[in-house]
Amino acid sequence: MENKSKELKVAIKAALEAGKILEKYFETKILKEFKEDKSIVTLADRESEEIIKKIILENFPDHSILGEETGMTANGSEYVWHIDPIDGTRNFANGIPLFAASVALAYRNDVIVGVVYNPATHSLFYAEKGKGTYFNDERIFVSKDDKDHAIVTVSPGRLDIEKQLLIELYHDLPKVIRSVRNLGCTAIELAYVARGGLEAYINLGLNTYDFAAGVLLAQEAGGKITNLDGSPWKFPENHFIASNGVFHDLLVEEVKKQKAKLGMN
Ligand code: IPD
Ligand code: CA
Ligand code: CA
Repeated sequence: MENKSKELKVAIKAALEAGKILEKYFETKILKEFKEDKSIVTLADRESEEIIKKIILENFPDHSILGEETGMTANGSEYVWHIDPIDGTRNFANGIPLFAASVALAYRNDVIVGVVYNPATHSLFYAEKGKGTYFNDERIFVSKDDKDHAIVTVSPGRLDIEKQLLIELYHDLPKVIRSVRNLGCTAIELAYVARGGLEAYINLGLNTYDFAAGVLLAQEAGGKITNLDGSPWKFPENHFIASNGVFHDLLVEEVKKQKAKLGMN
């Protein structure tokens, strides 16, 4: 991309530096701890978040930062960074090379910069609002594949009802979509939608730092994002369908059907 903003350059630098830490620890006997919600945290999550925050604050000392491991550093700014030092920690800690550092900047709740870096495959995805999405410096676009050739991923939310919805979708979506999965890394799933490796990703309730960078990647690559009912989506709403747009309405109908079955509105 020509004319990268300082914000994007800083986000890329932070993600690449975090990536070096993740690379150092990947496939080693890394110390795992379980958080209250049974999610995993490792030394690598903490070190990665530290370096990302350091690089951001060196360059933008007035900005606010929301990081998964350290929470909100509120500086009263309308610029808020949403960072996930490792998205896909369970993959990372189990030696599965699908994880990423995810760094996004939002201005007044509008994501303007997004970077996702997977050091295991040296895959760098980045986007800036209005300037397109890039993978290792090449412009990328969503695929044109239809439902009969599609891979769609769905990731679980936190609430029991969201988990129930996931089960129903896994049960019924394969009847109309070629392949349905969960890769365990929201940031990468959205990056793959942007690159045309996945046709859609359905989010049933996660945190902003899981998807902030990824949604911009998908949108700037020509993807479509709506709320689960098909209405216009807006960050930071955390229930949405991101797709290549080819069979988006079908996904909306399928989700509606399952929600009605479960008595969800
Ligand atoms: C996880 C990933 C995954 C999603 C999990 C998240 P983490 O984030 O985004 O795709 O299914 O619910 O917790 O904990 O590895 O940063
Ligand atoms: Ca995450
Ligand atoms: Ca994480």
